Amino acid sequence: MPIPRETVDLILQTARIEEVVGEFVTLKKRGANLWGNCPFHNEKTPSFSVNPARNIFKCFGCGKGGDSARFLMEHEHLTYPEALRYLAKKYNIPIEEKELTPEEQMAQTEREKMFNINAFANKYFTDTLWNTDEGKSVGLEYFRERGFLNPIIERFQLGYSPSKWEAFTDYAKQNGYNPEFLEKVGFSIKRQNGEYYDRYHGRVMFPIHNLTGKVIGFGGRILQSDPEKKLAKYQNSPESEIYQKKETLYGIYFAKSAIVNKDECILVEGYFDVLRMHQLGIENVVASSGTSLTIEQIRLVKRYTRNITMLYDGDAAGLHAALRGTDMILAEGMNVRVVVLPPEHDPDSFGKDYPTDEVVSYLSNNAKDFVRFKTELLLKDAANDPIKKGQVVRSVVETISVVPDPIFRIAYVKETSRQLDMPEETLMTELNKMLRAKFKKSLGVEGEVIPDEPVVSPPQEQPEEETLPVGFYQERELVKLLLLYGSEMLVNRYTNEEGETVEEQESVAQMIVDDLINDEITFIDPVNRIVFDAFDHALDTEELPNDQYFTSHENEQVAQLAIDLLTSPYKLDQWEKHGIFVKREEDMLMTAVKSALLRYKDQIIDSKRKEIEKQLKEEQDPDNQLILLKKKKHWDDLRVQINKVLGIVIAK
Ligand code: CTP
Ligand code: MN
Repeated sequence: MPIPRETVDLILQTARIEEVVGEFVTLKKRGANLWGNCPFHNEKTPSFSVNPARNIFKCFGCGKGGDSARFLMEHEHLTYPEALRYLAKKYNIPIEEKELTPEEQMAQTEREKMFNINAFANKYFTDTLWNTDEGKSVGLEYFRERGFLNPIIERFQLGYSPSKWEAFTDYAKQNGYNPEFLEKVGFSIKRQNGEYYDRYHGRVMFPIHNLTGKVIGFGGRILQSDPEKKLAKYQNSPESEIYQKKETLYGIYFAKSAIVNKDECILVEGYFDVLRMHQLGIENVVASSGTSLTIEQIRLVKRYTRNITMLYDGDAAGLHAALRGTDMILAEGMNVRVVVLPPEHDPDSFGKDYPTDEVVSYLSNNAKDFVRFKTELLLKDAANDPIKKGQVVRSVVETISVVPDPIFRIAYVKETSRQLDMPEETLMTELNKMLRAKFKKSLGVEGEVIPDEPVVSPPQEQPEEETLPVGFYQERELVKLLLLYGSEMLVNRYTNEEGETVEEQESVAQMIVDDLINDEITFIDPVNRIVFDAFDHALDTEELPNDQYFTSHENEQVAQLAIDLLTSPYKLDQWEKHGIFVKREEDMLMTAVKSALLRYKDQIIDSKRKEIEKQLKEEQDPDNQLILLKKKKHWDDLRVQINKVLGIVIAK
């Protein structure tokens, strides 16, 4: 069901960009704007800006920009209506919802249906845990036995799926969900005879939340350990449109504000590890859920902090897990530290045996910089074997070579040279060799000569020259003036038909639109045309469209153009000044408007001239030739006039 236009406007006006973005990106105030590291691309120095006055964001690194809704669409992979609903909820703006008709229900998007069934299941599993005999005596009892208290069980919305084989499947069917869909989302499994049973029957349930707190999937744990190992300890939701394992971190929704506050993210492996830490009051903890860490998960963490502490089991497997994949985290420019637990423990059991303050002090006393940790670990294995030691050096230098910041690389070389008892120069030489090789590889010119300046400028998103309509750039220039200064008032002085000098207050938009309409000119490029028309219509009603009208425009190209213009670097100074015009700038603006109009007309006339010249070449009839020549003269004269005004002499 579409959201009424007025409600959309209200939502977009109410949403504060700095609050919406601030939930996902750490922002710092600098001047009139807030700045942070861009969540859409990899960067070390913040080029992602949020402008509270204009209510938009813009990254000067990757170019992404827009309003609150656009941010959510990009960042949370929401559709436009989903983004609006998110904002409406955040700002308590009611959206009138009517009972869905069957047709509308059908039309509900697949994604919405998936969120819907997960929320429905979540309610069922939690209700079952708290309110049924089996739930209480089996499920709740299991959590209690493992030492988990109500606040944690409630907060993480833990649940229980009854041991009866088709309990949930039947319940969902009764509530209108069809079994094929239940199978697709992973709640049900089809038997040979065509009937369906519960994937999670007889398991305690962990809902997995996305960043905004919506349930996107589940993990279910069996209660008894299975000596024959026929049953997997955990059953997890299959991948779907809303649940991608490699992009998900268990607990991120509950941890994100603590991660920002502590400026550190502690990474563990399992569901119970996360629960345990939270119960101890250590809340900046997330789990990779058993798989090795992915680049997407690292970037997710990086939105909130650069500091990752990996908390690993003290056994050999745990140690080697710590080595795997860590170069990838370093390559993202993160600071990685490793804490190894005593051999018999995982974070859950450790946290069960020790009180919070001891866990906290264990963490801070044992956290080791990853490069140092790796060097120590490998050295221990190599003992006094010189060949092995050579491998250790290579492996450690390899790790150092992925660190993006050169200052850090040098610091690491200094440190490891002490650990390895090797001269810094030797390591430096090895490091440079590796960096060169990597660099060549990244350019795809292995074994070839490296050009001095390997910087390739990104392809411009401008349409190709040939396909541009006549006067495109001049049109764009006027559109720019409309968007940036449309409502700015200028004093227009001109001589009227009686020869009197008239002074008139006029908006920039009025000047441009009137001038073009007088000459019966309209923009050709569709995007430029939309902006022009919006001002044209608005002038009739005396209320000019505001920035938001364009930055939230339904035409994505228009919105993007507005964002780009309103945030273009030279406009930055204006941001700081809050658009207060001083006299000199007013004159400059007037000149800019007038010359832009003239240049635009010059282009149009020039193209008409060229058109006639072309016709002249083909025209054989002398009479027609004369007519064409006269026309050409008309355009030529106009051009000369225009260029006189412009103060430009055209070379003949
Ligand atoms: N995992 C999984 N499927 C399995 C085993 C493990 O998805 N068959 C994932 C789960 O997310 C689990 C994590 O890997 O939380 C870590 O596995 P493990 O250490 O075996 O589980 P714990 O969380 O420690 O669970 P428990 O303490 O109950 O053994
Ligand atoms: Mn465990």
